[in-house]
Amino acid sequence: MLSIGHRGAMGHAPENTLASFNQALALGAQAIELDVRCVDGRLLVFHDETLDRTTNGTGLLYAHSVTQLRRFDAGEGQPIPFLEEVCALVDRRAAINIELKDAASVPAVVALVVRCWQQGWAQNSLWLSCFSHEILQQIRACHATVPIGVLVEDRVGPAIELARQLRAVALHPSRKLVTRELVERAHHLNLAVYVYTVNEPEEIGRLRQWGVDGVFCNYPERVREVAAGLVVK
Ligand code: G3P
Ligand code: MG
Repeated sequence: MLSIGHRGAMGHAPENTLASFNQALALGAQAIELDVRCVDGRLLVFHDETLDRTTNGTGLLYAHSVTQLRRFDAGEGQPIPFLEEVCALVDRRAAINIELKDAASVPAVVALVVRCWQQGWAQNSLWLSCFSHEILQQIRACHATVPIGVLVEDRVGPAIELARQLRAVALHPSRKLVTRELVERAHHLNLAVYVYTVNEPEEIGRLRQWGVDGVFCNYPERVREVAAGLVVK
């Protein structure tokens, strides 16, 4: 089962920072998840619409220029990273799941993924995901084969139907939605199942038994520990 470091290793380091991605790699994550938003045509790795929770800035991210945003402290003195900085840091040592938080990111993310492929990244080591069905359709319209994961927090049926339509590679359900039957149904359609956000070892173990293909975890080492039987249930 794939250990996907959620926003890097946000249980250990400030989320979506280079330190967090470094930490995730050090803890054995085979993939990292991050969130992107587009400002002034640049891809910033950032989760919220506002700056307040994770930086020393305030207000809407989109109300600032990239130059202003880069001056804020996103934790432990680090700036909000650009997506290309994260790709350079990871440098094929792990897969990257890029979660798009706005439609403006679509062309720039697709262009960056294509550049990474040209630099030797494996086709399946970069995959895009989103909750918005409209944005997922835009991604597929922008590129015929870029790997897509469909995020779903409710209403599984329409998400599976969209995954089929878009020839997605994976379904990313909330942990609250997952059942053994859902895993079987997705696998029957050749969709991998990556569940967010699972931090409790007992739950990681149960999902593993159900055949879940990966979990987004704030503590990426826990997935390995469960698999190695280091965690006593
Ligand atoms: O991609 C999995 C998970 O990150 C989705 O929710 O809100 O943490 O971006 P969120
Ligand atoms: Mg996310």
